[in-house]
This record gives sequence, C-alpha cells and structure tokens, in this order.
Amino acid sequence: MEVSLILLAFFLAVISGVSACTPADKAALLAFKSSLNEPYLGIFNTWTGDECCQNWYGISCDPTTRRVTDISLRGESEDPILVKAGRCGYMTGSINPAICQLDSLTNLVIADWKGISGEIPSCVTSIPSLRVLDIVGNKLSGKIPDDIGNLQKLTVLNLADNAISGEIPRSLVQLSSLKHLDLGNNQLTGEIPADFGNLKMLSRALLRGNKLAGSIPTSVGKMYRLADLDLSMNQISGPIPDQLGKMRVLSTLLLDSNLLSGQIPSSLLSNTGMGILNLSRNALEGNIPDAFGSKSYFMVLDLSYNNLKGPIPGSLSSTAYVGHLDLSHNHLCGPIPVGAPFDQFESSSFDSNDCLCGNPLRTC
Ligand SMILES: *[C@@H]1O[C@H](CO)[C@@H](O)[C@H](O)[C@H]1NC(C)=O
Repeated sequence: MEVSLILLAFFLAVISGVSACTPADKAALLAFKSSLNEPYLGIFNTWTGDECCQNWYGISCDPTTRRVTDISLRGESEDPILVKAGRCGYMTGSINPAICQLDSLTNLVIADWKGISGEIPSCVTSIPSLRVLDIVGNKLSGKIPDDIGNLQKLTVLNLADNAISGEIPRSLVQLSSLKHLDLGNNQLTGEIPADFGNLKMLSRALLRGNKLAGSIPTSVGKMYRLADLDLSMNQISGPIPDQLGKMRVLSTLLLDSNLLSGQIPSSLLSNTGMGILNLSRNALEGNIPDAFGSKSYFMVLDLSYNNLKGPIPGSLSSTAYVGHLDLSHNHLCGPIPVGAPFDQFESSSFDSNDCLCGNPLRTC
C-alpha cells in the first residue's frame, strides 16, 4: 500500500514536471507577454500557472530539459482559436528583449499581428539554437541587427511586411544554413552585399519593395540552389548579369520596377528552367535576343515598359509554352511571328510599340 502511494506520488511529480518549464524560462515568457497587448482572442489568458510547456498557447518545450524551444504565434492561420473568432489576429506592443534569455529557442514566430512595433531586439543574435526567425507582417522598425550573421543555425529569416530601415548588414552573408530569406516590403536602403552569393544554401531570396540601390551582384550566379529571386520594386541599376541566365534551378526571376539598363542577356531567355520572368518597367534596351529554345516553358514573360527595339524574335514562336506574354510599351517593330503561342495573345500584349503588325494587331 505504502509503496504504491510513493509510486503514485512519483508518477504525479513526473507528469507535472513534464508540463512545467524552468522558472527562468517562465519569467522570460511572462516579461514577453507583459509587453504585448492582444485584445481580441485572449491567447495570453492561457499564459498563467506553471504548465507553460503544455497549456500555454503557442509554446513548446524540449521534453527532457523542459526548456522552451518554440514560440509560435501566428495572427493569420487555420488555428481553431482564429477560426472560431472569425477574424485575423491583431496585437500591439513590442518584442521584449527578455526572450533572448530563452537560449534553447529554435523557432521564434510572431507573424501577421499587424500592430507590433518597436525594434527587433538586437540580442536575438545571441540565441545560438535559433533556426527560424519569422516576424513577418507587423510594424517593426529600426535596423536588422548588425551581427545577424552569428545565427549559424538559422534556416528561415522572414522580416517581410514591416517598416525596417537601414542597410542589409554585411554579416548576413555569413548565414551559412539560410534557405529562405524574405526582407520584402520594408524600407531597406543601400546595396545588396557584393558577396551575397556566399549564401550557398539559399533557395528563395525575396527583397522586393525596398529602396535598394546599386547593381545586382554577379556573385548571385554562384548560388546553385537559388530557385526564386525577387528584387522587384527597388532602385537597382546597371545591367542584368549574364550569370543569372546560367543558374540551373532559378525558375522565378522578378526584376520589375527597377532602373536596370543594358541588354537582356540571351542566356536568360535560353535557360529552359526559367518559368516566370518579369523585367517590366526598367530601362532595358537593344533587341530582344533571338535565343528562345523549343524547351522554353514560360508561365510569365513580361518585358513591357522598357526601351526594347527591333523585331519580336522568331524563336519565341518555337517555345513549348508561353502563358502570359507582355511586350507592350517598347519600341518594337515588324511582323508579329505566327505559331502556336501567338494564337492566344490579345492586342494588349503588343500595345504601344513603334510599328508592330500582324494578328492580333492590324495586318502588315
Ligand atoms: C510585372 O511587373 C510589373 C511591374 O512591377 C507589374 O505591373 C506586372 O503585373 C508584372 N507582370 C506579371 C505578369 O505579374
């Protein structure tokens, strides 16, 4: 009898021990909570008592060390708490630097709460285990911490849709595990670091909608895992490096709404992996290279609003597929080629050129 009681007590201690985090982690979480205000869903109402590893919304722990490993708070998701409330999340306040004391943290996700302001605490760069830093869709301002490159395990850095300013820190290119980088729709200035191509693991680089200037670093050509490069809506100038056309897995290249000049590299059009290419609204000039191949498969090919001249190259009619074509607002001249991809385009694809003719425009 006595033995079984002792066993029961022991069993209960283990059970409750599993769901409690360490007192220091609990204190850090409570400090984090105290700097935020979430008025509609009440997610922080669950952040009471000692069971921080089990009952606290968005928190997970390592089961053996009882250290907090995940903060996962998403204001836009399929989570029942959001579905039930029938609204997206909204939070104000700031990110308390106390979270940096959670030094077993691997995932820090505070995404799409729209109203969280203040700066990214610079001490986050001292959380050695951090793999995911996702604070997209808030109102964060200030700079990206200078020593962001310290986060050697970081695979996802998503700071998009905030009001972050300053330059891309030089140290960013040292993030040797980084696979997904999204800094889009912020206020970043300065140039893309020349050694950006050192990010060898990167598969998505999304820098759209900033105020980045300077040219596209040729080192980008060394990023052999890069599938998706979005530099659109910046102030990037100079030529498009020929190297971009030689990248094996690059399939989405968005360079639209910049100040790019020079000719379109023919390698870019002959690269059979390229599926979405938008070079619209730049200052590209010269002829469109006659370099399309029979294996080219473009879902989007948008070269509109440039200074392109000469004829539409005949090789474009031999491509396997072109879903959306826009050559409008250039200085092209001559007959529109005939052939499968051209049967489906409307006149808007060819509007406002110098002297194009043939179906779907006037006969030549
Ligand atoms: C290409 O970029 C331009 C300018 O940013 C944009 O207006 C256009 O919708 C884009 N084209 C496609 C097909 O997405």
